[in-house]
Amino acid sequence: MVKITYHGHACFEVTDGTHNLIIDPFLEGNPSATKKADDVKVGWIVVTHGHGDHWGDTPTIAKNNNATVITNFELSEFAGKQGLTAHPMHIGGRADFPFGSVKLTIAHHGSTLANSDGYGGSPAGALINIGGKTIYHAGDTGLFLDMQLIGDMNDIDLALLPIGDNFTMGPVDAAKAVEFLKPKKVTPMHYDTFDIIKQDLKEFEKLLADLPAECVIMKYGSSYEL
Ligand code: NI
Ligand code: MN
Repeated sequence: MVKITYHGHACFEVTDGTHNLIIDPFLEGNPSATKKADDVKVGWIVVTHGHGDHWGDTPTIAKNNNATVITNFELSEFAGKQGLTAHPMHIGGRADFPFGSVKLTIAHHGSTLANSDGYGGSPAGALINIGGKTIYHAGDTGLFLDMQLIGDMNDIDLALLPIGDNFTMGPVDAAKAVEFLKPKKVTPMHYDTFDIIKQDLKEFEKLLADLPAECVIMKYGSSYEL
């Protein structure tokens, strides 16, 4: 059993019933989040890049739970300077964890450090293996052809793809990404949090109509089992 919960924007909690992780924990200041950072109970935090809407509540959650921050080398250094435990990785690398594994993928975006003008390393996506399932969180990215390679080399159960446009892929490019990735399920993210990334979900669903992937649109705070 692998359960996934959506907190809006790019933030998801994933559990296999024993191990709990959170991806891009932007809760305080996230108008769609229904959970408080202090209520999150996880052992690992996966952070795709340094922007505030992804790094978010990483320090609070890491300190409260003595959780390990899994992220790129530069952000792991940033985490370390704040006294947090971090596991440094980088693009193309995979590492094993008690819950399974994480591999960082490319993402075309920026990655300054949250609340500063420092360099946060390359933005990334993450292929997460947990409970025998493969989840691909694309991070913030534009469409790229190498998604085809990610789809060829991985049997993706769930792809979490940004569709908000403006800062990331919009619905048309995200639908093309689904074609490349060939996931069993796709859940859109990084839309509607702010006016600048408002999207018509019906439009996205329509674009996926001819593809085999099942589109699962998640309400804020809702969960489902993979
Ligand atoms: Ni970003
Ligand atoms: Mn973002």
